[in-house]
Amino acid sequence: PGRWAVRSEVPADARFFGLGGRACGPRLRDGAYRLWNTDPGGSFGPGDDPLYITMPVQLVVADAATHLMFHDNSWDGTVLLKEGEEGAGSGHDRAGTSELRMDGGPLRCWAMVGTPERVLQTWASLTGGAAVPPGWALGHQHARWGFGDQREVRRIVAGYRERDLPLDAVHLDIDHLDGHQVFTVDRERFPELPRFAEELRRDGVRLVSIVDPAVKAARGNAVYEAGEGLDMFVRDPSGRPVEGLVWPGACVFPDFTHARVRKWWGGLYAERLAQGFSGFWHDMNEPVSFAAVGETTLPRSARHALEGLGGDHREAHNVYALCMARAAHEGLRELRPHERPFLFSRSGWAGMQRYGGTWSGDVATGWPGLRASLSLVLGLGLCGVPYSGPDVGGFTGSPSPELFLRWFQLGAWLPLFRTHASLDAGRREPWEFGPEVLEHARVVLRERRRLRPYFVSLAHLARRTGAPYVRPVWWSVPEDRSLRDCEDTFLLGDAFLVAPVLGPGVDRRAVRLPAGRWYDTETERVYEGPGQVLVDAPLSRIPVLARAGAVVPVRAADGGPELEVWAPSPGRTGGGLVVADVGDGWQEAEAERYVTRWEGSRVVVERQGGDGPREPSLPVRLRGLPRG
Ligand code: GLC
Repeated sequence: PGRWAVRSEVPADARFFGLGGRACGPRLRDGAYRLWNTDPGGSFGPGDDPLYITMPVQLVVADAATHLMFHDNSWDGTVLLKEGEEGAGSGHDRAGTSELRMDGGPLRCWAMVGTPERVLQTWASLTGGAAVPPGWALGHQHARWGFGDQREVRRIVAGYRERDLPLDAVHLDIDHLDGHQVFTVDRERFPELPRFAEELRRDGVRLVSIVDPAVKAARGNAVYEAGEGLDMFVRDPSGRPVEGLVWPGACVFPDFTHARVRKWWGGLYAERLAQGFSGFWHDMNEPVSFAAVGETTLPRSARHALEGLGGDHREAHNVYALCMARAAHEGLRELRPHERPFLFSRSGWAGMQRYGGTWSGDVATGWPGLRASLSLVLGLGLCGVPYSGPDVGGFTGSPSPELFLRWFQLGAWLPLFRTHASLDAGRREPWEFGPEVLEHARVVLRERRRLRPYFVSLAHLARRTGAPYVRPVWWSVPEDRSLRDCEDTFLLGDAFLVAPVLGPGVDRRAVRLPAGRWYDTETERVYEGPGQVLVDAPLSRIPVLARAGAVVPVRAADGGPELEVWAPSPGRTGGGLVVADVGDGWQEAEAERYVTRWEGSRVVVERQGGDGPREPSLPVRLRGLPRG
């Protein structure tokens, strides 16, 4: 026991990424980054750090190589980063430094070196492949704190349908619970939830439930009484249950660091499944306990089982949500063995991707919040957590129609595409922002639905290869230094380069291109990288470019699957990996490798197999062919 520090040097050209979900990235500039999962309270913007997910997982990109350093230690700590400086050929480069100071726990670290692909694959092999969400969780999801009641939810779902807006899930926040108590339902406002869930499901809309870890400490609360009897809650050193204050009032906290507690908690999701919920949204699990002064979490002296080793909250804090996610995931796998569970969690730690994804948390409404939400998704992806997304529109207040639309246009290209807002915030339904926004939002929602097979394919590939769906533009060319500092553009898989609009009053923007040919997906105009180009970004759309030669599984106009193939550059080949959507169970689909090439004036698309090239298994639609 005791504090310790390690200091490492990196080349002068190196850039730092990772350390969990940071609002100020994705490139982590000089500064101190604390490793202590924290609810910032209220809402957050780019200046707030730390946030809900911190991880001692640092990715470094430099000319020499990319490497990932993982300190397997869950204690509180701080990473002090200082980027290096190049002496402009004078030979006097100053190295960058990363200094890790830990409050306790072991010095136990892992280093992975290679290309970004290789490093993330090694990371996944160490901490586990990412859970593949069910297909519907790759569609559009709508949430809000304070939907009111069943009638209101029904009205909103009808609003989507009447306006021809695709919707795949609705999330119920704490206001659907009886007195905010976990695993209960307010039967006055949601009188027949299972029937209602069934009705929504027939219309293709799933229900997702919030689940907070804190249990109201009150007689008559069945979860409390059972848990208390079975000794499931965190205790203080004198053996009394630790009480905190959360939405339902005085609460106790399950000790998820004990297998016995996880087993019990996992079984409680049977109640949620019986209510008709298909997915789960873990919240307040940093864990939060409100406090007028001091830290809004459990006291550091609180005791935890820590898998039998015993310890206190100093060591358990950062893995509390990770263990909660494990409890739910394992429970759901037993309760519904034939369906992949869907869960995402506000807090977490290294390895959380095994159980599910995450979301931004309470990102402040405003242009800086929009930027922060992209930073979080990119940074988390580089820590091995590929499925995440922001509260589209921001958690607080009322976005202007323009801000809402730009957020919507970005969100549609991120894995979790969910609108959500706080109790006292303005509405987030797309028709609340006027006819122009509605029209553009409809285009966004349809495109997202069209691309569902691509998202499903990326989800399977993320699990198998460790590559996040959303990647920084330097992903396959880390040696291109100009890309290392590009934070306003990203890749979605191998095929797309997405350039969101992150500020007001924009009608075109500069886009930094990695090497190769790129097509504007709207106009099919050709751009040649590397370099920077100006691309139109009218209110109706954000620039999305397709890589020459890319093979993208999409939903055809008739609803069936097809391959959208972008013509390779003249004289070059292209291609891609495609995993078919074989449903929401555990069946493994084969990854099909496609190659695209020119044969005279014809583009040929071939599937690579055991005994030579084969015909594609799906109809092909060619795009980007020279006109005339
Ligand atoms: C937290 C969550 C937010 C949720 C609210 C009420 O602030 O981050 O998403 O709406 O609690 O449950």
